[in-house]
Amino acid sequence: MLRRCNQAIQFALTCDSIKKITQRGKQMQQGGSSYPSCSSTSDCFSLTHLSAAQCGSENLSEPEKSEVRANNTSTELSRMRSLVMFYLSYLLCVCLGLSCVICVYVWNSQWLGGFSWDGSFLQFNWHPVLMVTGLVVVYGIAAVMYRIPLTWGQNKLPWKLLHAVLMLIALVLSVVGLCAVFDYHNAKNIPNVYSLHSWIGIVATALFAMQWAFGATAFLLPCSPLSLRKLLKPVHVWFGGSVVFLSIAACISGINEKLFFDLKENTTGSQHYRELPPEAVLGNALGVLIVAFGLVVLMILSNHKWQRPDSRTGDLAYAPLLQEENE
Ligand code: HEM
Repeated sequence: MLRRCNQAIQFALTCDSIKKITQRGKQMQQGGSSYPSCSSTSDCFSLTHLSAAQCGSENLSEPEKSEVRANNTSTELSRMRSLVMFYLSYLLCVCLGLSCVICVYVWNSQWLGGFSWDGSFLQFNWHPVLMVTGLVVVYGIAAVMYRIPLTWGQNKLPWKLLHAVLMLIALVLSVVGLCAVFDYHNAKNIPNVYSLHSWIGIVATALFAMQWAFGATAFLLPCSPLSLRKLLKPVHVWFGGSVVFLSIAACISGINEKLFFDLKENTTGSQHYRELPPEAVLGNALGVLIVAFGLVVLMILSNHKWQRPDSRTGDLAYAPLLQEENE
C-alpha cells in the first residue's frame, strides 16, 4: 500500500517536473538559452518515457496538442540518435579492446618467443599481455558498463556486482602481470622500479587497488550510509577516469621502452628500431590502438547524455543495496 502511494507521488512529481521543464524550455528557446545539464528536453532520457498526454495534455487546445506531438517526435528522434551513437561508440570500444588483446598476444607469442613462468625472458612476456588485458581492456569495458541503455530499466544490483567482479578480474590480472616482471627482474638481478614507466605503472595499479577497495566498501556494503555514497560517487568516477589515463601512459612508456631495449643493432642481428622493422610496426600499432581505446572509453564516460538516468537525477543510484534489491 505504502509502496503504491510512493509510486503515485513519484509519478505526480515527475509529471510536474515535465510540465515545469516544458515551460522552462519554451522560455529558454524564446530567450535563446539552453538547459544547464541537457542540451534539450529530449536529451533527458529519464523523462522521455512519459508522454505529455499522461500528464494532462488532454486539456490542451488542438494547436497546443500538435505542438506537443511535434515535440514528442523530435524527442524520440533525438533519443534514437543518441542511442545509435552510443551503440556505435560501444561497438568501437569493444573492437578496439579486442584488437589490443590480439595485438599484444601476437607480439609476445610470435615475435618474442612465447610464455613460461621460470624467471626467463619468457616470463617477462606475461607482463605486457596481462597488463594490457587487465588494466586497460577489462578495466575499460567494466568502466563503461553502466552506460549501456539496455541495463537501465533493470535492477541495478546485478550490474553493480558484475561491475565489481569485472574490476576484480582486471585487478587480479594486473597483479599477476606485475608479479611476472618483478620475479623476472629478481631472477636476473635487474633493479626494481627505476624507470619512469615503472613509477607511472605502480601509481596506476595502487590507485586502481584503492579505488576497488573503497568502491566495494562504499557502494556494495548495505551498511554504508547514503550520504557517504553521494559524497564518494563523483570522486569514484574521477579516480576511475584517472586510472584509465595512467594505465594508458604506463602502456605507452612500457611499449616504447621494450622496443628500444629489443631493437638494437648488432645484438641479436635484428634491425634497429629507427629502421622500423615489422616488430616495431606492431609495437607502435599496439600503442595507437591502446590510446584509441582509452579515448573512446573516456569519451563514453564523459558524455552526460549516456549516464544512467537514475545517476543523473541523483537519487536511485544511491539507494541502499537491499532497498534496490527489492525494487
Ligand atoms: C598498465 C600497464 C602497465 C603497468 C601498470 C606496468 C607496470 C610496470 C612496473 C611497475 C614495472 C617495474 C617492475 C620492476 O621494477 O621490477 C614494469 C616494468 C616493465 N614493463 Fe611494464 N607495465 C605496464 C604495461 C607494460 C607494457 C604494455 C609493456 C610493453 C612491453 C611494458 C614493458 C615493461 C618493461 C620493458 C619493463 C622492465 C623495465 C622497467 O622496469 O621499466 N609494461 N612495468
